[in-house]
Amino acid sequence: MASASFNEQDVLNALRVVQAPYMNIDVVAADMIQDIVITDANIRFTVDFKIPPAFVQDSLESDLRKALANHIPGLGDVTIDLTVSIPSAGDAMARSVVPGVRNTIAVSSGKGGVGKSTVAVNLAVALAQSGARVGLIDADIYGPSIPLMMNVQTQPRAYSEGGKTRLLPTESYGVQLMSIGFLVKPEDALIWRGPMASGALKQFLTDVDWEELDYLLFDMPPGTGDIQLTLSQSLPLSGALIVTTPQDIALADARKGVRMFEKVSVPILGLIENMSYYVCAHCGERDEIFDYGGGKRTSEDLDVPFLGEIPITTRVRVGGDKGVPIVELEPESAVAVSFRDAAMRLAGQISERNMTAPSAPAIDISL
Ligand SMILES: Nc1ncnc2c1ncn2[C@@H]1O[C@H](COP(=O)(O)OP(=O)(O)O)[C@@H](O)[C@H]1O
Ligand SMILES: [Mg+2]
Repeated sequence: MASASFNEQDVLNALRVVQAPYMNIDVVAADMIQDIVITDANIRFTVDFKIPPAFVQDSLESDLRKALANHIPGLGDVTIDLTVSIPSAGDAMARSVVPGVRNTIAVSSGKGGVGKSTVAVNLAVALAQSGARVGLIDADIYGPSIPLMMNVQTQPRAYSEGGKTRLLPTESYGVQLMSIGFLVKPEDALIWRGPMASGALKQFLTDVDWEELDYLLFDMPPGTGDIQLTLSQSLPLSGALIVTTPQDIALADARKGVRMFEKVSVPILGLIENMSYYVCAHCGERDEIFDYGGGKRTSEDLDVPFLGEIPITTRVRVGGDKGVPIVELEPESAVAVSFRDAAMRLAGQISERNMTAPSAPAIDISL
């Protein structure tokens, strides 16, 4: 058989037309194309995914095959192997109190009731469904709701080591969990003072046996208080995600949140607009109850990425109350798709930053 009339460089050039999923760079720039072997006219190579692959794998593979077919004359068989390596936040993360965690994300909002916990839970479960190893810490001392939303009634298991108590995270829907709600009775939570809450959060980082995780999400209390400061001082956070609703006041609060994180040098990974519009369960008509599109405008004003808009639907609340997040309860519904899309944009945003931005300085956590 005749030897190939193309070389490795031709293959890379052909593949450069394909965008890395949920990133603003192409697959070659994202270092996703590796180990190219050309035998006769046949090509074999590895696609190394930089975001969790499950939802993007098939379409990317077909795009890559099309690009080769279009740009390589005389192409033979194409074999594609898959690997995954989610980039980590870097050395600082590896030297932190949770060295097995690659990325940490604070899910925040200016005020309560905007659906921060709902968003945190659905993003965490969507990331787990997409193949990532995910943890979720409920750090909202004023309204810990993760145990209910994730249907966990049991206390975390504890054991003693060298006179110190260590905790094992609970698991639900493939997500490793720890909640301040496991440690305090709901009626006591409100009288906790800031320092006690901060102490509990630090304990979640130092005294819990977290497994290796690609993403550890924090469901934060609303606003910009002690817990936010403690977290930003305890970890080199990959960044903060701001949840807003379309009403002006929530957006004004979102702006405050963005500025607070900027002051402590925590990058803003993006904004999610929740309860963005209403879709009638009966006729399917879309109703923009509040001034629609404010989240997108605000993110443009503040120059932070817009990660998506989540409609208001009764089923989301029902799922929350039942302890079955909507991405698990009705994975094919439009609202589940918008959560999944936001989760993938978040993953893309984090990976792109990790591959291009210099890593944050190490943070020494002293207890
Ligand atoms: N997109 C949505 N559609 C319908 N209900 C929602 C949506 N997002 C949140 N909710 C409901 O709104 C209430 C507040 O949400 P929650 O996530 O607890 O807010 P926060 O954590 O910001 O206080 C809950 O009852 C929740 O089920
Ligand atoms: Mg909450």
